Order: sequence, then C-alpha cells, then structure tokens
Amino acid sequence: MSTHIAAAPGQIAPVVLFPGDPLRAKWIAENFLDDAELYSEVRGMLGFTGTWRGHRVSVQGSGMGQPSMSIYANELFREYDVQTIVRVGSCGALTEKVGMRDIIIANGACTDSGINRIRFHGQDYAPVADFSLLRRAVEASERMDLEHAVHVGLLFSGDQFYNTRPELTDPLVQHGALAVEMETSALYTLAAFFGRRALSICTVSDHLVTHEETTSLEREQSFGDMVRIALEAATA
Ligand code: ADE
Repeated sequence: MSTHIAAAPGQIAPVVLFPGDPLRAKWIAENFLDDAELYSEVRGMLGFTGTWRGHRVSVQGSGMGQPSMSIYANELFREYDVQTIVRVGSCGALTEKVGMRDIIIANGACTDSGINRIRFHGQDYAPVADFSLLRRAVEASERMDLEHAVHVGLLFSGDQFYNTRPELTDPLVQHGALAVEMETSALYTLAAFFGRRALSICTVSDHLVTHEETTSLEREQSFGDMVRIALEAATA
C-alpha cells in the first residue's frame, strides 16, 4: 500500500476515473463497472476496481482542492503505475456562454494556487490536457445524444471555494476561462511530470453569473453523461 491508498500492487487498473467525492466513486463503481471491488477506504477516500466493456478500470476519490487531489494523483502515478487519469468533477460557470449542467472538457487550466509558482520558481507553466484523451472525449460526446452542450475550454482551478476576491477572475474570463473548479491545474502538471495522460471533464453544477444551482437529481443525471464520455475516452 501507499501512504494514503490501501491497495496491493496490481489492484489498481492503469486507467483511473477520479471524482472529488468518494461517494461519487462508489456510485460510479456501482452503476458503471462490472465486478467492482473496493481496494481502499483509508480516510473514507474510497477506491474501486472493476471492468467496463471488458476493460479494467478503477475509480478513486480525490477529495477537494489541489493539495488533496495531488496526494492521490502522486500515489497513483508513482506507486501504482497508473497511466491514465480522467477527473470527473463539478464546476461553477463563470460566463453566460456556459449553461447549467453543460459539460466542459478542459484543454487547459489556470490557477491562483501557489503550488505551480513554487514548482516552477515563479515562472508561468501552462498545464494542458493529454491531446489523445481530449480528442477521444470530444469524439465520444459527438456520438452521444446529450441533453446539454459540451464545451472545450479553459478551467480556473481556484484554491478557495469561498473566494474572497471573485472580481480577480474577471481577466481570466476575458481570456477564455469558462468555469471554476479546484483540481485540474495540479492534475495536468503532475501528469506531465510523470509522463502520463490526464484529462479533466466537469459538469456545471452552479452558475456564478446567474446564481442558478442544480438539484441533487439533476447532478446525478448529468454526472452520468460525463462518466460515459470519460469511460469511452479512457478505454479507446
Ligand atoms: N465546483 C463546483 N462549483 C464550484 C465553485 N463554484 N467553485 C469552485 N469549485 C466548484
């Protein structure tokens, strides 16, 4: 086992779906995977391995924010030789170009976090998605009959859910940021460091311009579309 994941070597598949919420990991395992088995529940951060259309797939909770997500991503890449991580998360829309429950496939992420500033000695690094995963996710979404729009664009990975200076995101939105979440910038950076593949797909769960919010039923339904896109992209 690694420091925060209680799986034996080989118990985690090379492909991992990566929701923030550990109960979403359980929901994905129960509703999408065959023969899913729990491999870890350390700190309640559940992880399961099963199969999807004959492909071995794991689903691991990441927790919220870049520090928590980075612990699990580091251990998945470093200790379990995971090759592909697809985050399946939620995000808050920052622009009216994006509607409630739309899906955003992140081609890159900007951040207000100090993590990359420290890592790159104050230089600006551009964390980007793996292009083959991104292309497959877009192609999968085009084959599906989806109720809501799919956008490819920039996420803003903020360090604070309760942002004390929301106006600071205005220039990011003017330069293309579509929505805020809290993990993608560090995930893309770690995948690049380890030479592995990562993609982040997020469903809009709340709208910071119109102040709409989703019900839990709506979140579940739109989450399913995103999981199907992620599984098709990751196993193609
Ligand atoms: N994830 C979903 N909605 C969010 C928001 N408004 N801010 C940060 N992360 C989010």
